[in-house]
Amino acid sequence: MPELSKEVLVSETAIATRVAELAAEINRRQDGRPLVAIGILKGSFIFLADLVRQISCPITCEFIRVRMSEGGNSSSPREIHYDASFNVAGKDILIVEDILDTGITIDYLIQHFKQQGATSIQVCVLLDKKESHKVAVPVDYVGFEIPKKFVVGYGLDFEERYRELPHITWLEGVSWPLAD
Ligand code: IMP
Ligand code: MG
Repeated sequence: MPELSKEVLVSETAIATRVAELAAEINRRQDGRPLVAIGILKGSFIFLADLVRQISCPITCEFIRVRMSEGGNSSSPREIHYDASFNVAGKDILIVEDILDTGITIDYLIQHFKQQGATSIQVCVLLDKKESHKVAVPVDYVGFEIPKKFVVGYGLDFEERYRELPHITWLEGVSWPLAD
Protein backbone atom coordinates (compact mmCIF):
# COMPACT_ATOMS: atom_id res chain seq x y z
CA MET A 1 0.00 0.00 0.00
CA PRO A 2 1.48 3.39 -0.97
CA GLU A 3 2.31 5.65 1.92
CA LEU A 4 0.18 8.72 2.70
CA SER A 5 2.29 11.86 3.03
CA LYS A 6 2.04 13.59 6.39
CA GLU A 7 2.34 16.94 4.65
CA VAL A 8 -0.56 18.96 3.30
CA LEU A 9 -0.45 20.07 -0.33
CA VAL A 10 -3.59 22.25 -0.26
CA SER A 11 -5.11 23.09 3.12
CA GLU A 12 -8.78 23.11 4.03
CA THR A 13 -8.78 26.90 4.41
CA ALA A 14 -6.95 27.43 1.10
CA ILE A 15 -9.58 25.27 -0.60
CA ALA A 16 -12.45 27.19 1.03
CA THR A 17 -10.99 30.55 -0.03
CA ARG A 18 -10.38 29.41 -3.59
CA VAL A 19 -13.82 27.79 -3.98
CA ALA A 20 -15.41 31.10 -2.94
CA GLU A 21 -13.30 32.94 -5.54
CA LEU A 22 -14.24 30.46 -8.27
CA ALA A 23 -17.93 30.76 -7.40
CA ALA A 24 -17.71 34.57 -7.49
CA GLU A 25 -16.13 34.41 -10.95
CA ILE A 26 -18.78 31.97 -12.20
CA ASN A 27 -21.52 34.24 -10.80
CA ARG A 28 -20.02 37.25 -12.51
CA ARG A 29 -19.70 35.54 -15.89
CA GLN A 30 -23.07 33.81 -15.73
CA ASP A 31 -24.82 37.06 -14.74
CA GLY A 32 -28.08 35.45 -13.59
CA ARG A 33 -28.50 33.05 -16.54
CA PRO A 34 -29.46 29.49 -15.55
CA LEU A 35 -26.64 26.97 -15.36
CA VAL A 36 -26.45 23.17 -15.29
CA ALA A 37 -23.54 21.94 -13.15
CA ILE A 38 -22.42 18.47 -14.22
CA GLY A 39 -20.27 16.71 -11.64
CA ILE A 40 -17.95 13.91 -12.71
CA LEU A 41 -18.33 11.12 -10.19
CA LYS A 42 -17.02 10.21 -7.86
CA GLY A 43 -14.11 12.58 -7.31
CA SER A 44 -15.99 15.87 -7.74
CA PHE A 45 -18.78 15.28 -5.22
CA ILE A 46 -17.36 17.39 -2.37
CA PHE A 47 -16.05 20.15 -4.63
CA LEU A 48 -19.39 20.43 -6.43
CA ALA A 49 -21.30 20.51 -3.13
CA ASP A 50 -19.15 23.37 -1.81
CA LEU A 51 -19.18 25.25 -5.10
CA VAL A 52 -22.92 25.22 -5.87
CA ARG A 53 -23.77 26.53 -2.40
CA GLN A 54 -22.11 29.79 -3.43
CA ILE A 55 -23.65 30.10 -6.88
CA SER A 56 -26.25 32.85 -7.21
CA CYS A 57 -27.74 32.11 -10.65
CA PRO A 58 -30.47 29.43 -10.96
CA ILE A 59 -28.55 26.15 -10.93
CA THR A 60 -29.38 22.48 -11.39
CA CYS A 61 -27.03 19.58 -10.66
CA GLU A 62 -26.42 16.46 -12.69
CA PHE A 63 -23.82 13.75 -12.27
CA ILE A 64 -22.08 11.43 -14.67
CA ARG A 65 -19.49 8.71 -14.42
CA VAL A 66 -16.76 8.31 -16.98
CA ARG A 67 -14.99 5.00 -17.24
CA MET A 68 -12.07 3.87 -19.30
CA SER A 69 -13.09 1.28 -21.85
CA GLU A 70 -12.52 -2.32 -20.82
CA GLY A 71 -8.84 -3.28 -21.10
CA GLY A 72 -7.92 0.29 -21.93
CA ASN A 73 -5.09 2.47 -20.73
CA SER A 74 -4.92 6.14 -19.81
CA SER A 75 -5.02 7.21 -23.48
CA SER A 76 -7.95 5.03 -24.48
CA PRO A 77 -11.34 6.38 -25.46
CA ARG A 78 -13.77 6.82 -22.58
CA GLU A 79 -17.08 5.14 -22.05
CA ILE A 80 -19.61 7.60 -20.77
CA HIS A 81 -22.17 6.66 -18.14
CA TYR A 82 -24.89 9.07 -17.18
CA ASP A 83 -28.53 9.43 -16.32
CA ALA A 84 -30.31 9.54 -19.69
CA SER A 85 -33.08 11.67 -18.21
CA PHE A 86 -31.02 14.82 -18.45
CA ASN A 87 -30.66 16.76 -21.62
CA VAL A 88 -28.10 19.50 -22.20
CA ALA A 89 -29.55 20.77 -25.50
CA GLY A 90 -30.01 24.54 -25.38
CA LYS A 91 -28.43 24.84 -21.90
CA ASP A 92 -25.37 26.55 -20.44
CA ILE A 93 -23.39 23.79 -18.76
CA LEU A 94 -20.53 23.79 -16.30
CA ILE A 95 -18.47 20.60 -16.13
CA VAL A 96 -17.15 20.23 -12.58
CA GLU A 97 -14.15 17.92 -12.25
CA ASP A 98 -11.77 17.14 -9.41
CA ILE A 99 -8.53 17.05 -11.35
CA LEU A 100 -7.17 17.61 -14.83
CA ASP A 101 -4.39 15.13 -15.55
CA THR A 102 -3.93 14.09 -19.21
CA GLY A 103 -6.99 16.14 -20.18
CA ILE A 104 -8.45 13.20 -22.11
CA THR A 105 -11.59 12.93 -19.94
CA ILE A 106 -12.50 16.61 -20.25
CA ASP A 107 -11.67 16.69 -23.95
CA TYR A 108 -13.97 13.72 -24.46
CA LEU A 109 -16.80 15.29 -22.45
CA ILE A 110 -16.60 18.62 -24.28
CA GLN A 111 -16.99 16.82 -27.64
CA HIS A 112 -19.81 14.74 -26.21
CA PHE A 113 -21.83 17.66 -24.84
CA LYS A 114 -21.22 19.70 -28.01
CA GLN A 115 -22.79 16.88 -30.01
CA GLN A 116 -25.72 16.88 -27.60
CA GLY A 117 -26.35 20.53 -28.43
CA ALA A 118 -25.28 22.41 -25.29
CA THR A 119 -25.46 26.18 -25.86
CA SER A 120 -22.23 26.81 -23.97
CA ILE A 121 -19.76 24.59 -22.16
CA GLN A 122 -17.57 25.83 -19.33
CA VAL A 123 -15.12 23.70 -17.39
CA CYS A 124 -14.20 24.10 -13.74
CA VAL A 125 -11.47 21.93 -12.21
CA LEU A 126 -10.21 22.06 -8.66
CA LEU A 127 -6.71 20.80 -9.46
CA ASP A 128 -4.61 20.96 -12.59
CA LYS A 129 -1.49 18.83 -13.17
CA LYS A 130 -0.19 21.07 -15.93
CA GLU A 131 2.89 18.95 -16.67
CA SER A 132 0.72 15.88 -17.40
CA HIS A 133 -1.49 17.23 -20.18
CA LYS A 134 -1.58 15.13 -23.34
CA VAL A 135 -4.28 17.12 -25.08
CA ALA A 136 -4.99 20.85 -24.90
CA VAL A 137 -8.31 21.51 -23.20
CA PRO A 138 -10.00 24.86 -22.73
CA VAL A 139 -10.52 25.15 -18.99
CA ASP A 140 -12.37 28.21 -17.72
CA TYR A 141 -11.77 27.91 -13.96
CA VAL A 142 -8.82 26.28 -12.19
CA GLY A 143 -8.56 26.04 -8.41
CA PHE A 144 -4.88 25.16 -8.05
CA GLU A 145 -2.04 24.13 -10.30
CA ILE A 146 -0.23 21.23 -8.66
CA PRO A 147 2.89 19.15 -9.33
CA LYS A 148 2.81 15.69 -10.90
CA LYS A 149 2.01 13.80 -7.69
CA PHE A 150 -0.76 11.31 -7.03
CA VAL A 151 -3.08 13.36 -4.82
CA VAL A 152 -5.94 12.33 -2.55
CA GLY A 153 -8.47 13.99 -0.27
CA TYR A 154 -11.43 16.38 -0.67
CA GLY A 155 -13.17 13.76 -2.84
CA LEU A 156 -10.13 12.30 -4.58
CA ASP A 157 -9.30 8.69 -3.87
CA PHE A 158 -6.77 5.94 -4.21
CA GLU A 159 -8.65 2.65 -4.56
CA GLU A 160 -11.66 4.35 -2.92
CA ARG A 161 -9.69 5.47 0.14
CA TYR A 162 -9.02 8.99 1.47
CA ARG A 163 -11.97 10.84 -0.14
CA GLU A 164 -13.00 12.07 3.32
CA LEU A 165 -9.81 14.04 4.06
CA PRO A 166 -10.66 17.77 4.34
CA HIS A 167 -7.41 18.79 2.61
CA ILE A 168 -5.37 17.62 -0.39
CA THR A 169 -2.28 15.52 0.27
CA TRP A 170 -0.42 12.90 -1.78
CA LEU A 171 0.68 9.29 -1.82
CA GLU A 172 4.25 8.15 -2.28
CA GLY A 173 4.95 5.34 -4.72
CA VAL A 174 1.85 5.27 -6.91
CA SER A 175 2.60 4.55 -10.56
CA TRP A 176 0.20 6.84 -12.36
CA PRO A 177 -0.96 7.23 -15.07
CA LEU A 178 -1.34 3.61 -16.08
CA ALA A 179 1.35 2.49 -18.51
CA ASP A 180 0.43 3.23 -22.13
P1 IMP B 1 -7.49 12.64 -17.32
O1 IMP B 1 -7.38 14.15 -17.23
O2 IMP B 1 -8.40 12.17 -18.42
O3 IMP B 1 -6.16 11.98 -17.39
O4 IMP B 1 -8.16 12.03 -16.05
C1 IMP B 1 -8.47 12.66 -14.94
C2 IMP B 1 -9.04 11.62 -13.98
O5 IMP B 1 -8.01 10.75 -13.53
C3 IMP B 1 -9.58 12.31 -12.76
O6 IMP B 1 -10.95 12.52 -12.88
C4 IMP B 1 -9.27 11.35 -11.65
O7 IMP B 1 -10.32 10.42 -11.53
C5 IMP B 1 -8.08 10.59 -12.11
N1 IMP B 1 -6.83 11.14 -11.53
C6 IMP B 1 -5.82 11.74 -12.19
N2 IMP B 1 -4.85 12.13 -11.36
C7 IMP B 1 -5.26 11.76 -10.12
C8 IMP B 1 -4.68 11.92 -8.81
O8 IMP B 1 -3.57 12.46 -8.61
N3 IMP B 1 -5.42 11.44 -7.77
C9 IMP B 1 -6.62 10.85 -7.93
N4 IMP B 1 -7.20 10.69 -9.14
C10 IMP B 1 -6.52 11.15 -10.22
MG1 MG C 1 -12.48 11.78 -11.73
